[in-house]
Amino acid sequence: SGELSYGGTSLDLKVTTATEGASGLDISKLLGTTGMVTLDPGYTNTGSTTSKITYIDGDAGILRYRGYPIDQLAQQSTFIETAYLLIYGELPSASDLESFTSRISRHTLLHEDLKRFFDGFPRDAHPMPVLSSSVSALSTFYQDSLDPFNPEQVELSTIRLLAKLPTLAAYAYRKSIGQPLLYPDNSLGLVENFLRMSFGFPAEPYVVDPKLARALDQLLILHADHEQNCSTSTVRLVGSAHANMFVSVAAGINALYGPLHGGANEAVLQMLSSIRSEGGDISSFVKRVKNKEPGVKLMGFGHRVYKNYDPRAALVKATADEILASLGGDDELLDLAKQLEEIALSDEYFIERKLYPNVDFYTGLIYKAMGFPTKMFTVLFAIGRLPGWIAQWREMINDPMTKIGRPRQVYTGYPERAYTPA
Ligand code: MLT
Repeated sequence: SGELSYGGTSLDLKVTTATEGASGLDISKLLGTTGMVTLDPGYTNTGSTTSKITYIDGDAGILRYRGYPIDQLAQQSTFIETAYLLIYGELPSASDLESFTSRISRHTLLHEDLKRFFDGFPRDAHPMPVLSSSVSALSTFYQDSLDPFNPEQVELSTIRLLAKLPTLAAYAYRKSIGQPLLYPDNSLGLVENFLRMSFGFPAEPYVVDPKLARALDQLLILHADHEQNCSTSTVRLVGSAHANMFVSVAAGINALYGPLHGGANEAVLQMLSSIRSEGGDISSFVKRVKNKEPGVKLMGFGHRVYKNYDPRAALVKATADEILASLGGDDELLDLAKQLEEIALSDEYFIERKLYPNVDFYTGLIYKAMGFPTKMFTVLFAIGRLPGWIAQWREMINDPMTKIGRPRQVYTGYPERAYTPA
C-alpha cells in the first residue's frame, strides 16, 4: 500500500503488486528517484516557487509589494514608481524615478512595420489575442534585447515592454473600433498617453481629465502583481525554458485572456445587468444564489487565497464612488452592487463561507464609466499586471536554483494493453 496526498488530503492506495496498482499507478516509480509526489491540481496547497516580490496573507486580508502595503502604494505612489519597486526591489530615489520615466517615454513608439501588423487582423478581433500576438512580435522587431542572461538586454526589453504595451493596447482598441492609430505623445505620462491614444483624435488636442488619469493609475497599481496566479506562473514556466521576456509575457497575456482569470469583472457587470432587467430585486437574487439555482451565481465575491476582505476591493470601491460621481456612469448598477455587497456581508450564509467582494466586483463599473468597452477590461488588467510579470520573470531567470519547469503528473489511465487491429 502507499499513501498519496490529494489536494492536501491523504488518500490510501491499495495496490495489487509491489509495482503496479489496479489504477495503473506505479508506486515504486512515484516514490523513486524524485521522492514523494503530492497530487495537487492547480497547486492549491503546495508552493511551486519561492519569491521575494509579493506577500499575501489571505486570512488577514493583507497584500504587500516588496513589503509595502498595497493601500499605501495605491494612495501615495504612482504606477511607474510601483513598477520600479516591483522590478528592482526598492523604491526609486527622485533621480532614479526621473531617469526610469524618461527611458520609458523614449521607447513608446513602435517600429513602423509593426504598425502594419495590425492591418491583418479582422475588424472585430478581440483586443487580447491582438495584444498577445503583437507582444510576441516584439521579439522579431527588437532582436537586440532577447538574451535572458545579458543584463543590458534584459534591461532594454524591460523598458521596451513597459513603454510599448500601452501603445500596443491602445492600437488593439483603435483597430477594434475601426479608428486610425495615434502616435504616442511623449510629453505625457504613461497613463495620460494611453488615454490619449485610446480616446483622442488625430487633429485635435486631447485634454486629459486628471481625476480619470489618477483613478486609472491607482487601478493599475492595484493590479500590478498578485504572486503565483495563473498568468504569473505561466510567465515563469515559459521563461524557465529560457524563452525571452517578450514571448514569456505574451504567454501570460494569453493566460489572462481566459475568462476565469481576467473575465470576472465582465461577469459582474453581466450579473448586475441581469438583476436590473429582472426588476432589481437583490433579496430575491441572494435567495436564488443560496438555493443554488442553475445559472445563478454571485460573481465578484470570494477568492482562492482571501478568506477576508480583498484589500484591493475596498480601494476599488472608493474609486468607483469617485469616478461615477465625477464622470457620470451607471449609478443604478453601482447602487445594485452596493446593495448586494451589504446584504451578502450581513448574511450568515456568506459570512460562514467567508465570501467577501474581490477586486473584480467594482472594476467593471469603473472601466465602463471611463469609456472602455468590456472587451478592453482584460487589456487594462494586462497593462497593470505587466510590472509583476516582468519582476517575476527576472527573479526566476536570476535564481540559480531555477530549472526548466516540469510539473509532475500522476498517471490514472489504463495499465498496459495489447494492441489488436480492428
Ligand atoms: C489576480 O489578481 O491575479 C487575481 O486575483 C487572480 C489570482 O490571484 O488568483
